[in-house]
Amino acid sequence: MSAQVIDGKRIAGEVRSEVKLEAEKLRASGIVPGLAVILVGDDPASAVYVGSKEKTCAEMGFHSEVHRLPGRTTQEELLELVGQLNRNELIHGILVQLPLPPHIAEKAVIDAISVEKDVDGFSPQSTGNLVIGDESLLPCTPAGIIELIKRSGHEIAGKHAVVIGRSNIVGKPVAMLLLRENATVTVCHSRTENLEAIASTADILVVAIGKPKAIGPGCIKPGAVVIDVGVNRLDNGKLAGDVDYEACLPAAGAVTPVPGGVGPMTIAMLMHNTLKAARRAAGV
Ligand code: GUN
Repeated sequence: MSAQVIDGKRIAGEVRSEVKLEAEKLRASGIVPGLAVILVGDDPASAVYVGSKEKTCAEMGFHSEVHRLPGRTTQEELLELVGQLNRNELIHGILVQLPLPPHIAEKAVIDAISVEKDVDGFSPQSTGNLVIGDESLLPCTPAGIIELIKRSGHEIAGKHAVVIGRSNIVGKPVAMLLLRENATVTVCHSRTENLEAIASTADILVVAIGKPKAIGPGCIKPGAVVIDVGVNRLDNGKLAGDVDYEACLPAAGAVTPVPGGVGPMTIAMLMHNTLKAARRAAGV
């Protein structure tokens, strides 16, 4: 039997439709969810991501502001803008597109976003809430991964989930979310010994290492749900995930393609977070 291909585009579309419907209801009570995105410098990939966030906000009927600042912007200027947006009642979510230019300390900027508006879920307070299990805005890609697994019909509770990668943006938070969903969670990383032996015991394998086609069929337990978070540009211009998709397809039970798997979920969950932040600000 060949693997189920998990259609991230379709599932992201489902989430977006739900968010749009809820946003319409909220608008009826006079509240328009508002997202502010800050882009510093002219990194072409970041410009594309920010453009799609802006477009999706328009589709959702959200208020959106994009602050495109020159690469020479100082940290003080950026912090001043974040402070203004923290105080702006029309804005419920603030996202500072990463990476920032090297002269700006990312941590200082992320820490300055008020926790109620932290729609990326990257701040220490949001992270702490996630670990404790308190109510908070969840990081978009990890939250999107949980939605993909559930909405494609797979059980998480009781399963062995192996996460390869330990970044603050994906690996660590997705491990915490899987734990919250009652999986038994193992986190592997660049210093892990016997990676294949561990990965091949996973019922759910999440890979976020940023190395094209690094994970082969030796890492796949027959029937495993394989979630590939990698987006790598190959020399031939094509995109590849961290998983060798073609080679792993025969063994896996379900896999996410790249592109069209995890990617579309990130913006969908950003919209979900902005709606949630707007509702909370309004106390509804
Ligand atoms: N750059 C790449 N991915 C992300 C993301 O999820 N959030 C932010 N703020 N910047 C990014």
